[in-house]
Amino acid sequence: MTAMLLDGKALAQKVRNRLKARIADLKKKTGEAPGLAYLVVDNDPVSAHYVAGKTRACEEVGVKSFVYPYPADMSERALLERIDELDIRPDVHGMLVQLPLPPQINVHAVLEHINPDKDADGFHPYNRGHLFSASPSIAPCTPKGIMLLLKENGIEVAGKRVVILGRSLVVGRPLSMLMLGADATVTICHRKTRNLPEITRSAEILVAAIGQPRFVTAEHVSPGAVVVDVGINVVDGKLTGDVDFDAVSEIASAISPVPGGVGPMTVAMLIDNTVSLFERRVLRGRPEKV
Ligand code: GUN
Repeated sequence: MTAMLLDGKALAQKVRNRLKARIADLKKKTGEAPGLAYLVVDNDPVSAHYVAGKTRACEEVGVKSFVYPYPADMSERALLERIDELDIRPDVHGMLVQLPLPPQINVHAVLEHINPDKDADGFHPYNRGHLFSASPSIAPCTPKGIMLLLKENGIEVAGKRVVILGRSLVVGRPLSMLMLGADATVTICHRKTRNLPEITRSAEILVAAIGQPRFVTAEHVSPGAVVVDVGINVVDGKLTGDVDFDAVSEIASAISPVPGGVGPMTVAMLIDNTVSLFERRVLRGRPEKV
């Protein structure tokens, strides 16, 4: 392997250490701890794994976790009511509904129902709108984590050709806005994109977020490119990214591994968002929309 490893595990630990100190300071000032609630419908093994990782990290830094698992056949109305209950709780400063949701629940209705001032994921249309108009907001955790992973590894984004594989609301679309805000030239590719390898080979920074194990091979990457792997796929019981790591790490100048790359950064950014929501509410005494 010749590429530099973008070690998200180590960086996330540093970020959590900084957050721990910030939270301890806030506790001294306010006598309160930030609280984050998780609503998990249909607690499948993957969701359970994600949520366990998030609550472990919260515990480490001093954020209180409230986990609410619900059955797979929960109605949309019941879920909206649970969100309302959390919205008025003073000890809950942020909340998230773990995705994906079962088919009887409309994901857009749910995300829109979360108070933007308690929206730890940054998925509410209000917060997305802020991201779109490049004004400060609570940004989705994975894209925010990718930007920090690049920055802290000394990888300049301004002026670079960035190609993002995947147009999801969780990663591809919000990441394109953060990249644009950081002065990159951005292309988003998806399943109907033609001449894909030609486009991905034009990338100085290539981000794979499509959920297809080892989809990105050496033919997609030009020598010296930076490759960020957002994929979390389980193959033969093993966590596997969207990038063929062994082949691509011989060509790229830097690459993020799976596991230990983007995943831990996502969790650290979730805590960062929760602390920001807590600060807005408790320090300034009122929810403030910035
Ligand atoms: N499922 C996979 N990633 C995420 C995430 O970042 N937030 C939520 N709420 N659900 C997810």
